[in-house]
Amino acid sequence: MEAQNRKRLMLFSGSANPILAQEVSELLEVELGGVELGTFADGEISARFTSSVRGADCFVLQSHSNPINFHIMEQLIMIDALQRASAKRITAVVPYFGYARQDKKSMPREPITARLMADLFDTAGADRLVSVDLHSPQIQGFTRKPFDSLTALPIFTQYLATLEGPLTVVSPDSGRVKQASRYARHLDAEVAFVHKRRRVDVADDVSALQVVGEVEGRHCVIVDDIIGTAGTIVSAAELLKDRGALAVRALATHALLSPPAIDRIKNAPLEETVVTNTLPVSEEAAGLPNLTILSIAPLLADTLKAIFMDTSVSQIFMGENV
Ligand code: R5P
Repeated sequence: MEAQNRKRLMLFSGSANPILAQEVSELLEVELGGVELGTFADGEISARFTSSVRGADCFVLQSHSNPINFHIMEQLIMIDALQRASAKRITAVVPYFGYARQDKKSMPREPITARLMADLFDTAGADRLVSVDLHSPQIQGFTRKPFDSLTALPIFTQYLATLEGPLTVVSPDSGRVKQASRYARHLDAEVAFVHKRRRVDVADDVSALQVVGEVEGRHCVIVDDIIGTAGTIVSAAELLKDRGALAVRALATHALLSPPAIDRIKNAPLEETVVTNTLPVSEEAAGLPNLTILSIAPLLADTLKAIFMDTSVSQIFMGENV
């Protein structure tokens, strides 16, 4: 007697980023699994898988895009349903991991939402997690489950490989210097960083105050994980231009692009802004003449294949060691 679903990969998509899920499924040569997602009149989410998942290796892909609470809850509900339907293993694939920015208490009486998220995935029944460029690497340790934290670094560095002239990779704040150094190593570039100030009473108010490192007469590439309101990259770009940079580009894995990001980028002294599709990019943003979107789908597909085949993901898992 042979177990039917043993070693069967099933990929399911939440409603947040169906285009990315489709791309991943084509690369894996696996059709997206059937799931009926809906809402009750009061807004409660419902989910029902349309075929058996018993014994299957299930992957639930969902980015935590706006409306973020809805998309998180949808993914958790899908995972709960899979667990109750006897899936053999459930992997939460979260290209953009929401609530990761509150990863410690910076002020008294604040939450640690990144830990809460990890607990929610545990409770729902996720056996492992996959994400890309987590806001901070220690979030991997917020759960006891295996957590593959991927990086878009190879995608970005490959894209920039043709850039000629003296290059400086710029960290937009002191906390990302390590990350900028990794990029600089791959691009054979110098490193600089911007000293930024964020007002504690206004969440998205950012000013770039000082730059440390060689930027004059050089191509500068600002590397960040997230573009939220674009205050960070735009104020850094303005400062770098002011300090004599030849041209300024910004790279960020997660294009949240919350208002007024699009207007800010439109009017910024940025040659180019390069992001990935971990989050769906609106038509308006995609229409920006200086915005380039690189696909994360091959990285995700390779990772899911490796997890499914029980082969090493270390070639892909290029976190701290790169
Ligand atoms: C901050 O710690 C993050 O790495 C990003 O720099 C920040 O989230 C970007 O936000 P905004 O675009 O709103 O300045």
